[in-house]
Amino acid sequence: MTLTEQVQSSFDNARDPRLAEIMRSLVAHLHAFVEDVSLTEEEWAAAIGFLTRTGQKCDAKRQEFILLSDVLGASMAVINANHPTGGAATESTVLGPFYVDGAPEFELGADISGGASGEPCFFSGTVRGPDGEPVPGALIDVWQSDETGNYDVQYSDLDHAQGRGRLRTDSTGHYSFRSVRPEAYPIPHDGPVGDLLRAAGRGPMRPAHVHFKISAPGYRTLITHIFAAGDKYLDADAVFGVKNSLIVNFDRDNDSYRATYDFVLARSEEP
Ligand code: BEZ
Ligand code: FE
Repeated sequence: MTLTEQVQSSFDNARDPRLAEIMRSLVAHLHAFVEDVSLTEEEWAAAIGFLTRTGQKCDAKRQEFILLSDVLGASMAVINANHPTGGAATESTVLGPFYVDGAPEFELGADISGGASGEPCFFSGTVRGPDGEPVPGALIDVWQSDETGNYDVQYSDLDHAQGRGRLRTDSTGHYSFRSVRPEAYPIPHDGPVGDLLRAAGRGPMRPAHVHFKISAPGYRTLITHIFAAGDKYLDADAVFGVKNSLIVNFDRDNDSYRATYDFVLARSEEP
C-alpha cells in the first residue's frame, strides 16, 4: 500500500460514511499537491505558519478563514456546486462578512441609508418564483457600503444601521427602497489574507455592489448581490463573486440614481 492508500484507509471505519468519503478525497488531493509542486519542508512550515496567523486573526467580528476561502475562490466554488445555474433562478454569490441578522425593518419606499454618505439612489423591482408568479411578503435583507467603501459595522462609534435594512415585498411581489449608490471598496487586507494578496501582486478591491438575502416560505433562500455596470473592478473582483446576470445599470434620474432588478427564487425541494 502506498502512503496515500494507508492514510485513506485509516478513515474506513468512520461512523459517518460521508466523512470517510470527504477525507479520502482530501488526502488524495493533498498528497498529489505535495508531489505536484515538490513541496519543501520550509514551504510546508511557512504554510502552517500562514494558517496559524489566519486563525489568530479570527475573533467575534473577523473571520479570516472565510476571507481566505473567498480569495481562493473556494467560497464561489461551493456556491456554484450547490446552486447550479441555467434555470430561471437568480444566480447566487458570496455572503461576505458584513451581513447582520436582525437589521431594522422598513416600509417599502423608505430611506434605509441611515445617513450613509453617497449619491442618493432609488432601488426597485420584483421577487418572483420560477414560473413567474409574484412572491408577496418575501423578506428582503439588503446591506451595502457607503461612498467611502465602509459598512456601518466597520464604524466603531456608530450606534445605528446605515445602508442596511429589512423589507417585505407587497402583494404583487414588488419592492422599493432608497439608499445610496454603492462604490468599489477593498476587502479587509490588514491580515494574513492581505499579505497573500500583496505577495501575489493581487488587489483587494471588489466592484461596487449591493447585497441581498431574500427568503420566502416554499422557496430557497437567495444570497446574492447586484453589481454596478461599468465598474472598473468587475473583471478583477478579489473574491471572484461577479456573474454577468447580476450586473445592472445605475442610471441618473434627476437628482437621484435609479437601479432596477427583478429577482427569481428557486422553489425549495421540501414539500
Ligand atoms: C463583501 O462584499 O462584503 C465581502 C465579500 C467577501 C469578502 C469580503 C467582503
Ligand atoms: Fe460587500
